[in-house]
Amino acid sequence: MSESIKGMHRTNRCTEVTSEFIGQQVTLMGWVQKRRNLGSLIFIDLRDRSGLMQVVFDEPKTGSEGFKKAGELRSEYVIAVTGTVQKRTAAINPNLKTGDIEVIAEDLRIFSEADTPPFPIEENINTKDELRLKYRYLDLRRPDLQRNLMLRSRVCSVVRNFLSEEGFLEIETPILQKSTPEGARDYLVPSRIHQGSFYALPQSPQLFKQLLMCSGFDRYYQIAKCFRDEDLRADRQPEFTQIDMELSFVEAEDVMDVNERLLARIWKEIMGQDITLPLPRMTWQEAMDRFGSDKPDTRFGMELVDVSEIAAGSGFGVFEGALEAGGSVRGINVTGQGSMSRKQIDKLVEEAKGIGAKGLAWLALGDDGAVKSSFAKFISEEKIQELIRAMNASNGDLLLFAADRNKIVWEVLGALRLSLAKRLELIDESRYDFLWIVDFPLFEWSDEQGRYLAMHHPFTMPREEDVAIMNTDKKGEARAEAYDIVLNGTELGGGSVRIHQADVQEEMFKALGFTSEEAHERFGFLLDAFNFGVPPHAGLAYGLDRLIMLMAKTDSIRDVIAFPKVKDASDLMTDAPAAVDEAQLDELGLTLKQK
Ligand code: AMO
Ligand code: AMP
Repeated sequence: MSESIKGMHRTNRCTEVTSEFIGQQVTLMGWVQKRRNLGSLIFIDLRDRSGLMQVVFDEPKTGSEGFKKAGELRSEYVIAVTGTVQKRTAAINPNLKTGDIEVIAEDLRIFSEADTPPFPIEENINTKDELRLKYRYLDLRRPDLQRNLMLRSRVCSVVRNFLSEEGFLEIETPILQKSTPEGARDYLVPSRIHQGSFYALPQSPQLFKQLLMCSGFDRYYQIAKCFRDEDLRADRQPEFTQIDMELSFVEAEDVMDVNERLLARIWKEIMGQDITLPLPRMTWQEAMDRFGSDKPDTRFGMELVDVSEIAAGSGFGVFEGALEAGGSVRGINVTGQGSMSRKQIDKLVEEAKGIGAKGLAWLALGDDGAVKSSFAKFISEEKIQELIRAMNASNGDLLLFAADRNKIVWEVLGALRLSLAKRLELIDESRYDFLWIVDFPLFEWSDEQGRYLAMHHPFTMPREEDVAIMNTDKKGEARAEAYDIVLNGTELGGGSVRIHQADVQEEMFKALGFTSEEAHERFGFLLDAFNFGVPPHAGLAYGLDRLIMLMAKTDSIRDVIAFPKVKDASDLMTDAPAAVDEAQLDELGLTLKQK
């Protein structure tokens, strides 16, 4: 049976109907959540994107034909019901927005029948991810995913309104671009007309937004699709969305100011919460020293402590070796966990090794102050007491130490700190801790490439006082006019002031090891544009998906994207990527290498 909608008009969504509607007639349309037959009465829960409404079919009111039809309803049938709102006669449901009312049906139309879905359309169901993603259109009927996508839409409209009030213009930039091999791996698109040539999908609108500044648009934004062919994680997709912006005639402070107000507006309008401005700031160095991360979660303590001075001359080879190699020894105090079993501690050691540590030195204080430790036998009692004091430890605490190059020590303790806090439930999930990270290093050493790379990108302005050291052996200490915005330990967005002076740009290319010709080969159009008059400019981009993920309090970015991809970057519903036929390849002048 599939009836037409002709002549029928929906009056409301389910949960727009309240007890104020009692006695009024409404027409609702949606999906049958479930049906219960009580002989002379048939109940259904009707579902639309707003929520549920109980509908009652009673033969004298519904008519015998309608009542018979109601008896045939199954889950996920798409129907329309016209009826009168009444106070619920029995079983008031306080968990439901419409729990005190119901609609007594006078007319029923069945628009479409439905096969039994492969999994129940309910919140918090335990279904395999593969199945959910194969039938994503059904998965998306679930109330939690509906809420997430509605939230996403509302956030986008707040962003558009705010930025438009602030004088930003929404301008689109091309999706088919030129590959610029710096950053992540590009997705390539072969050209039919220029056989053997390829477009690249944008990793971000970076170069084009800077060109728009050269063109005089002075404040640009875009909710932009970006593509990066990198390994996926819970907070990464190959195709994701940025709220991207660029401003002319500004300094870093101006960009941070407008963005703080944007975040405050979003939180106020959507979450009904006030954020205190200005947001706190922390230098990159402080973030690494205290939290072992450039995106610290500041909702709990367990901060890193540098004990290198005590470790020096301790006689413990592991500690002294790391220090001699230019590294450090640092620790965290896992308060109250001194009674952790040996087995659990061994697991932590394994976890540390998994992150890249050579080992993890530990010291457990019993409730009576007795010391158990993996390294007590190598080191004097006096040093042990010094370490305990430095770590601010009391009886019953567990101390964990890593000794290595700074990078590894930070990574290991930073990650252990997070995983322990999750396991020990130390995180106040109701908090939103925003934090600016500033004074990033300009360059980052790449072990893989054996050279310094730009930490942000090659157009990031150095701190004025650090230009002089960019091409000296102190270049590792040069800092950038770059800033990241961090929320609860996730990098929400990042940006920088851009270089607009030709001489500083030359220094930058030199520091990165490009010749002027190589730089022109890659970024010639931007450098040319700068020769024709470039304003001082700066910008920032947020990961929209990550923002919504945090607002929705879900731990996967997939839950806030309508049609996401899985870990191997495929789409389980459409089976993309897929082979194409020979004729399509011919047209592009491509042949596939035999594997
Ligand atoms: P960046 O590379 O830091 O900066 O990206 C900005 C923000 O985009 C989000 N993001 C991602 N989200 C989901 N999946 C991914 N694979 C992914 N990669 C990045 C992050 C990140 O903070 N053009 C510069 C910005 C600028 O300088 O103005 C840029 O793209 O939340
Ligand atoms: P070993 O002398 O290798 O048996 O190590 C003694 C203790 O030091 C063990 O608990 C190791 O896990 C730990 N350890 C080894 N390497 C490191 C390191 N780089 N940092 C911290 N602890 C380590």
